[in-house]
Amino acid sequence: MSVQRTLSIIKPDAVEKQKIGAIVARLEQEGFRVVALKKLQLSLAQAEGFYAVHSARPFFGELTQFMSRSPIVVIALEREDAIAKYREVIGATDPAKAADGTLRKLYGANVGENALHGSDAVDTAKAEIAYFFPGYETLGG
Ligand code: CMP
Repeated sequence: MSVQRTLSIIKPDAVEKQKIGAIVARLEQEGFRVVALKKLQLSLAQAEGFYAVHSARPFFGELTQFMSRSPIVVIALEREDAIAKYREVIGATDPAKAADGTLRKLYGANVGENALHGSDAVDTAKAEIAYFFPGYETLGG
């Protein structure tokens, strides 16, 4: 294990439900340090760029419309074994299948509106953090 960074996105549904504070508090309780954080609203083109890897999926239009409908919060997080630990804390993609107490179980509605995004590997975390925080490698933890 080693110290890693991962990108968290608090999605429009959770921001609309005013769960930013509850989610950040839980992540800090779980040992994540906030390296960088900002609230912004994606344009449709920016959402399409971020999720380009999913562009052939049937849900791509729905996903990018949803992600650009209202503000999100993007957070660069750091922790020992951050990628796997973060995925454990947020739970399965479909909130109905997520374990009790996970953030998607608590705040997600369905597989589309699932409250949070998380990076799935060290390489994608690096690219995703750079998408929102260019030059993040020079930020302190
Ligand atoms: P996320 O971690 O942001 O990465 C890709 C997203 O696609 C995923 O979370 C889900 O919110 C979304 N997604 C996956 N499957 C579906 C689906 N069947 N319908 C709508 N959205 C989906």
